[in-house]
Amino acid sequence: MTPNQDIFYITTPIYYVNAKPHLGHAYTTVVADVCHRFHKMKNKTAFFLTGTDEHGDKVVKAAQNENMSTKGYVDFISGLFQNLWPDLSVDFSQFIRTTDVNHIETVKQILQKIYDSGDIYFSEYEGLYCFGCEQFYTEKELVDGLCPDHGTAPEIIKESNYFFKMSAYQDWLIDHIKTHPTFIRPERYRNEVLSFLKDPLEDLCISRPKTRLTWGISLPFDDRYVTYVWFDALINYISALGYPDDQRFSTFWPHAQHVVAKDILKPHGIYWPTMLKAAGIPVYQHLNVHGYWNVDNSKMSKSVGNVVDPLKLKDVYGIEAFRYFLMREMSFGLDADFNESALVQRINSDLANDLGNLVSRTLTMVHKYFKGLIPDISVSDIKDDKIKEAASDAVRAVDSFMNDFAFNKALASIWELISHMNRYIDSSAPWELAKKEENRDELSFVIYNLLEGLRIIAGLIYPVMPDTSQKILALLKQDMLATGMFTWGQLNAGIRIEKSVTLFPRIDTKAKKEKQKSQKIDRKLTDLKPEIDYEDFQKIDLRVGTVLDAEHIPESKKLLKLQVDIGEKRTIVAGISKHYSPEDIIGKQVIVAANLKPATLMGITSEGMVLAAVKKKKCSVLIPDQSLLVGTPVQ
Ligand code: MSP
Repeated sequence: MTPNQDIFYITTPIYYVNAKPHLGHAYTTVVADVCHRFHKMKNKTAFFLTGTDEHGDKVVKAAQNENMSTKGYVDFISGLFQNLWPDLSVDFSQFIRTTDVNHIETVKQILQKIYDSGDIYFSEYEGLYCFGCEQFYTEKELVDGLCPDHGTAPEIIKESNYFFKMSAYQDWLIDHIKTHPTFIRPERYRNEVLSFLKDPLEDLCISRPKTRLTWGISLPFDDRYVTYVWFDALINYISALGYPDDQRFSTFWPHAQHVVAKDILKPHGIYWPTMLKAAGIPVYQHLNVHGYWNVDNSKMSKSVGNVVDPLKLKDVYGIEAFRYFLMREMSFGLDADFNESALVQRINSDLANDLGNLVSRTLTMVHKYFKGLIPDISVSDIKDDKIKEAASDAVRAVDSFMNDFAFNKALASIWELISHMNRYIDSSAPWELAKKEENRDELSFVIYNLLEGLRIIAGLIYPVMPDTSQKILALLKQDMLATGMFTWGQLNAGIRIEKSVTLFPRIDTKAKKEKQKSQKIDRKLTDLKPEIDYEDFQKIDLRVGTVLDAEHIPESKKLLKLQVDIGEKRTIVAGISKHYSPEDIIGKQVIVAANLKPATLMGITSEGMVLAAVKKKKCSVLIPDQSLLVGTPVQ
């Protein structure tokens, strides 16, 4: 089936509600928004879906941590996502939640359909399970026997579950990917999926017993089970469209394009198409996969404390600059690094200098030389199409790059046109032309070219910077996205345009550095605990001890139970298990705070504390540099 070129449907992943929205979510969603705006601008009938993924263990745990009911918690975090998007100028058509009644019904319907056709079966399964990921891992997927995401040892779990016969569709999928070269793009991810498909596919476990997980969708054919993560989440892309009978489904689904990052390539590149095939539903058109944003060259993570809050950036730099930076800096498909100084650099050079100056120079000249009126070139016989050609080159390039998800290249082409026009001002020197009446025609021609170029630039930047686009068009007294927007020669002579404004104020990097420096010093000072007297310090009884024994506490990822000899034997619970194995610490001498009141941790009474230096992810137990008698006081 060849899809109708006038219809466009784009989706983002539906985001888990166990964490607040961050830079990564913002990027994917802004990408989808940019594409949606671009296709709408081209008069397509377009639909843009985003939403939240609200079932599963993790959500229940996150709610418990916040002392909230699960429903109250999912409503709260889902609300944060829904409210964030308009602040980032993201204009979605629909926001789906997996707790929506319609979605739940559709999931059940599809499960039943596949079950009836014999592709879902019941079987016992034993596997390596990571509780953090809520996922079984194969030996091959583990890194040194540990979960690749959490670095913890998975546990062997045996349970009866329902399975989807994914393996039955492996050959079909390989063939589909091979015969549809842009089904998964960019190519590196297509190759990754094909290489994964070289090994036999295992069937997909799609359920969890309610004894273990109740926050999910009940299987229509066995009420003792709920469906597990992907069979619920992926179906959002069609449940939102009212599958199977709604007109929106028949209109938009044949044009579906998904946008995801590389972390969820496998569910989207393998599970989803095989699920669709088994349910007798045509597969999506394209899976567009992007890389990861790192922050200051390290992986964004809560424990490192470098998670970037898009709202904070928006408040400091403005949403248009933020969107521009995201689209300009990442090459779709590859990882990119986020750092604030690169953002400031882009604002100062690309936005304030190049675009901002072009707008203000041009408008100032219209007011200076033509009393603010668009000059008349109808009687001019000057022939110089350089700007016209540069503009139409940019329109063509942007169109092609946008269709290929090469947003950075699309923006680079627009900025080539902007530079070209800035150079054109310098080379044609309107201030010289204005000195002589005989050059009036030429002056009119130059200024008209600049205004026309600006009008086209305003249209080209619209998907990425809708507000700036609107501002420039308003200055030129033009309608937003009028028909013929990208055809040269739309401006009518005699229209009075607005005076120049500063679109993007320059950011004073020196002042910013000073501010950051003082914030750093402030932070240092506030980190210090209040002063204490020497006598208070003397109250702490610090002793040298030798660790006689150490063991993991099974229910805890952080704690080790130690037996320490400090002249008498003490049981001490220490939060060092992520950094020290029992073997690492047994036999070592440590410093113990010996007169702390006992505390109970995980049901064990801890009779003291082992000193360690701790900052962010690092933890180093303090060990004397020579062997000492146990019980030696530390002063
Ligand atoms: N709920 C699933 C998706 C189900 S879709 C049917 C999920 N949710 S998630 O909250 O973890 O979102 C993952 C997505 O967030 C990534 O695929 C990507 O779109 C975005 N990002 C999260 N971190 C990111 C970066 N550091 N960089 C870029 N995007 C990333 O997986």
